[in-house]
Amino acid sequence: MTDTTDQSRKGRVAVLGAGTMGAGIAQVAATAGFSVALFDVSKGQLDKARASIAQSLEKLASKAKIDAATKDRALSSIVTYDSVEDASRDASFVIEAAPERMELKRELFTAVDRAAPADALLASNTSSLSITEIASVVRDPSRVMGMHFFNPVPLMELLEVVRGVRTTDANVDRAVTFAKTLGKTAIVVRDFPGFATSRLGVVIGCEAIRMLEQGVASAEDIDRAMELGYRHPMGPLKLGDLVGLDVRLAILEHLHAELGEQFRPPALLRQMVRAGKLGKKSGEGFYKWTADGPQKP
Ligand code: CAA
Repeated sequence: MTDTTDQSRKGRVAVLGAGTMGAGIAQVAATAGFSVALFDVSKGQLDKARASIAQSLEKLASKAKIDAATKDRALSSIVTYDSVEDASRDASFVIEAAPERMELKRELFTAVDRAAPADALLASNTSSLSITEIASVVRDPSRVMGMHFFNPVPLMELLEVVRGVRTTDANVDRAVTFAKTLGKTAIVVRDFPGFATSRLGVVIGCEAIRMLEQGVASAEDIDRAMELGYRHPMGPLKLGDLVGLDVRLAILEHLHAELGEQFRPPALLRQMVRAGKLGKKSGEGFYKWTADGPQKP
């Protein structure tokens, strides 16, 4: 069981962006005993995040992964904000989990730089964008790093810590310790497009979409190939749906520009995103997503 300790000793975590990842990060920080400031420009998104956190905590409590007191304490320690400055003001850790657009991340970090305490660690949950470039907008880039979480955040063990060109060893160590406090295992990687995880993960996802385009097999059978033949917990198309096809497309576009042809986004992926088929979050991607999970479309 995960237990919590006194929140005033653990300090405050600000999470910027209340989408799937932001909600998950807020949940694990709150469960680990931090007080959490969750920012989003959309009140609707904040409401959605709170509902999904409540549902996830309920599920974990029903399976005795956390106790009822931890669940209640975690929920009540998350406060929502519509101002980046207010959310970041007293934070020891600020984790940005906004959409994958460099301009947006630069704007957020500029605002955080003005508001957060000088010794706070500033992290981005970006899946592939340059941490060094994000860090260039703040006065002290030594405290900026990537903290790349995985979906579903409450269940996934890895935290990929990305060291920017100017990130200091001491701040990387603080991030690794923070990961442990959240119950995660950290790996430390150099700032390079796609880091360790996304670069490898999108190759399989991208090839699976090309195979579907080429009529090699049905979506279910392509997924079963990797689930049963390679023991992946989830096939690559289902996983793309879980992560969000818009997120996958943004990563591929960036890696295509940075690393070349092998990352060119498949036409089918572009079409699906244009059609609003974003996967689990929109209810349809390669599968239809219902309360019972992914169904054949
Ligand atoms: N909170 C609480 N419980 C959750 C949950 C959440 N957020 N998400 C799923 N669960 C529950 C499920 O509801 C299920 O409960 P029941 O047993 O009551 O049905 C339970 O966890 C286990 O789920 P499954 O039965 O589906 O079993 P599973 O063993 O397959 O576990 C999984 C689910 C952990 C998601 C597993 O399928 C898995 O590891 N999938 C791969 C995930 C992955 O690769 N993530 C990384 C994506 S890449 C990324 O995120 C980074 C990026 O940059 C884009």
